Amino acid sequence: MKAQIAVLAGDGVGKEIVPEAVKLLQAAAEKFGHTLTFVPALVGGSAIDAVGVPLPDETLALAKSSDAVLLGAVGGPKWEGLDYKIRPERALLGLREQLGLFANLRPAKLYPMLSDASTLKREVIEGIDLLVVRELTGGIYFGKPKGIEKTQEGERGINTEVYTTQEIQRIAKVAFEAARKRRRKVTSVDKANVLESSELWRRVVIEVQRGYPDVELSHMYVDNCAMQLIRNPKQFDVLVTSNLFGDILSDEAAMLTGSIGMLPSASIGVKAGMYEPIHGSAPDIAGKNVANPIATIASAAMLLSYQLRLDREAEAIEQAIRKTLEQGYRTKDIQSPGSRLVGTVEMGDAILNNFR
Ligand code: IPM
Ligand code: MG
Repeated sequence: MKAQIAVLAGDGVGKEIVPEAVKLLQAAAEKFGHTLTFVPALVGGSAIDAVGVPLPDETLALAKSSDAVLLGAVGGPKWEGLDYKIRPERALLGLREQLGLFANLRPAKLYPMLSDASTLKREVIEGIDLLVVRELTGGIYFGKPKGIEKTQEGERGINTEVYTTQEIQRIAKVAFEAARKRRRKVTSVDKANVLESSELWRRVVIEVQRGYPDVELSHMYVDNCAMQLIRNPKQFDVLVTSNLFGDILSDEAAMLTGSIGMLPSASIGVKAGMYEPIHGSAPDIAGKNVANPIATIASAAMLLSYQLRLDREAEAIEQAIRKTLEQGYRTKDIQSPGSRLVGTVEMGDAILNNFR
């Protein structure tokens, strides 16, 4: 297997965690006899500093011509004052839109040895294994009209939540297909008691379910879901929801697993998918070799299985992560008494050793 991977480390801890994931991908290629070519490019604040825009044309062209994109994180206080149109975050949204990455898969699974790292009680989180399927190219993130306009009384900020039948159908299908490979339960999360866009969402998801009679479907309002996720997360298998609700609920789901530094994600569409940790650039800890590289390494494993269909290789990386945690290695975010506290690079090396 030959593949080209666009490597967009971005800002903050992105620059530290992405090289750790590349180490593992490189090792996987060597061990299993594949040729992976890694092509780095600028994105986010680093791109703004270098060339004045968060998503340079060359970066977009590279992403489009690659088999997959591995992304770190973008953003930081340095660029917060900028106009929305040229903020680092626009790069992420631009890539999602331009690559047609309409489905974002965020699995939250608890590694048993980390059950004490979570702020929730062990009995609540033990055994959780859920998947958030977040719609990624629609909803309020992209809906029009949008903007800030001047009125006689002052300014008015506008964003619009919009979903079409077709957008809901395709994300629902992704959720039902994913559920077939899991415990065959889909919970569709909406706010159908208040929002018309949610009313349509619910209706379309119900229609799509007719093609999946073997998958059980239930519906939940987003406020209740936020509560149920910390009350009884084990009830969930696959959650399917809109862009904004998915953004919020996936951060919440991450904390069930102990740290947001553990959660990988895959954004998939028609062609090249994008693989990235769900966390941000964490400027407060950037450059200190303390960030947890596991979410990014696990994202690299998702890249292998989802994009390149290299399931064996992906499983070997996941096993190496598990083994490393079993040996007691912990970055600061998942540290507990008696564990071996290590930095970003040391964690990457330990996983690499176990992989080899
Ligand atoms: C995420 C992030 C992004 C989002 C930001 C950085 C634009 O929070 O991937 O969850 O809101 O989608
Ligand atoms: Mg988010």
